[in-house]
Amino acid sequence: MSLLDILTYPDDFLKTAAKPVENIDGRLQTFIDRMAETMYQAPGVGLAAVQVGLDQSLLVYDICPQENDRQLHVLINPKIIAAEGEILSEDEGCLSVPEFRANVKRAQSVLVEAVDRDGNPLRLEVEGMQAIVLQHEIDHLQGTLFIDHISALKRQMYTRRVKKQLKYQGS
Ligand code: NI
Repeated sequence: MSLLDILTYPDDFLKTAAKPVENIDGRLQTFIDRMAETMYQAPGVGLAAVQVGLDQSLLVYDICPQENDRQLHVLINPKIIAAEGEILSEDEGCLSVPEFRANVKRAQSVLVEAVDRDGNPLRLEVEGMQAIVLQHEIDHLQGTLFIDHISALKRQMYTRRVKKQLKYQGS
């Protein structure tokens, strides 16, 4: 199975707001499999369709991505219905924001509604790590990166570095 290219900041496509998935067909199933494989290979704990160039509301995640302990979750048209509490997500990172980590304030627990890859309604009440990953990935589907949640000063540390690197590469 061929892997998908993960877009990285400052690619404008990462600002895309995903559209609801209307048809869960064979093509989408294949795309979901490729997304999962791409996430495991990266490796990462979550991947949203927008990060791999598809403007559809779809994400995959697995907070135990080790080879023998995998538990893949596929969420189509996910929505945060309720959020509670506050937690500091320490050293949060993102496959689309390479070589940068920062602390991000997140809700401690979230209630998420979605459908699974077979189109069955799904209701998830999660907290801690799983809640953080879901907030991060659902943000991607609204064109938001974790660096949009940190202070302007910290964000500039990263954006300046990226600009410098792009200049060296002559692009
Ligand atoms: Ni991310």
